[in-house]
Amino acid sequence: MTPSYGLEGRAAVVTGASRGIGLAVAEALAGAGVRVCVSARDPDAVRSAAEQVGGIGLAGSVADGEHLAELTGLALRTFGRLDIVVNNAATNQPYGPLMDADPEHWREAFAVNVEAPLRLVQCAWRAWMGEHGGAVVNVCTEGAEHVGPRVGAYGTSKAALLHLTRQLAGELAPAVRVNSVSPGLVRTEMARFVWEDAEEELGASLPLGRIGRPEDVARAVVWLASDAARWITGADLLVDGGTRVRPAWTGAPVAAVQERLRLRTPDVQRPAG
Ligand SMILES: NC(=O)c1ccc[n+]([C@@H]2O[C@H](COP(=O)([O-])OP(=O)(O)OC[C@H]3O[C@@H](n4cnc5c(N)ncnc54)[C@H](OP(=O)(O)O)[C@@H]3O)[C@@H](O)[C@H]2O)c1
Repeated sequence: MTPSYGLEGRAAVVTGASRGIGLAVAEALAGAGVRVCVSARDPDAVRSAAEQVGGIGLAGSVADGEHLAELTGLALRTFGRLDIVVNNAATNQPYGPLMDADPEHWREAFAVNVEAPLRLVQCAWRAWMGEHGGAVVNVCTEGAEHVGPRVGAYGTSKAALLHLTRQLAGELAPAVRVNSVSPGLVRTEMARFVWEDAEEELGASLPLGRIGRPEDVARAVVWLASDAARWITGADLLVDGGTRVRPAWTGAPVAAVQERLRLRTPDVQRPAG
């Protein structure tokens, strides 16, 4: 069970919360006594996630500014406050070399991964946090530090989200703290094409001996959102099982991941979002 860190009675919005890391974050926040509003595109999945965490939900894409405004409004009308925003929804498409990147798909990656977090924070700031304070946690990726084959749009957009985190932290202090977590490889749908059939080998290559579980990341998000982190803003917390400190001699599995990315991502770009 995640400690509650004095979060009881607060209210949160979590995007991309119908499965994976977002759902684990929503569950952990609810477990800490936070009232949670979840969002994702699939209405059935949103309904079931809201039920699972004992909260409320709204279906829509974070790329849609109206959805973000409605989400903020719904949370405020229902809970009477909005203390925490977790920007977790993301797309890891389009795949492929950047020289072939379709501008429309590139823009979609930035709309979901960078612009949406900014717009949601704007909504929360104007409606509640500017006056009452709050905490924002953005979900980035450990991979934003690396040059990976075929995931250039994702990596570039997540690197931008890291900087957005720092920029907002500077602009919104002292009322609102803005931090990020950067997960390593976590066992979710988004990363299935990396870990499937190789989970044990990939886990064994990490100092902490296994790949991540959604709740590993959720615990870090809850902590950053709480007053336990009250003197922390503009920080990025690596939640990566030691990926960054992996000794060089275990580098072979890293090459294996790169090879999987090369083989398992389609040549033809798919619509993103
Ligand atoms: N898994 C990893 O290894 C890993 C590593 C580093 C960072 N991350 C980051 O962790 C976060 C969560 O990823 P995950 O692995 O948990 O992925 P996931 O299991 O695929 O879940 C993604 C969630 O986001 C929602 N979503 C996707 N596009 C959306 C959009 N345009 N608008 C609203 N909701 C949307 C999905 O629901 P719908 O499809 O119904 O919208 C789903 O609820 C992402 O920011 C990702 O970049 C993951």
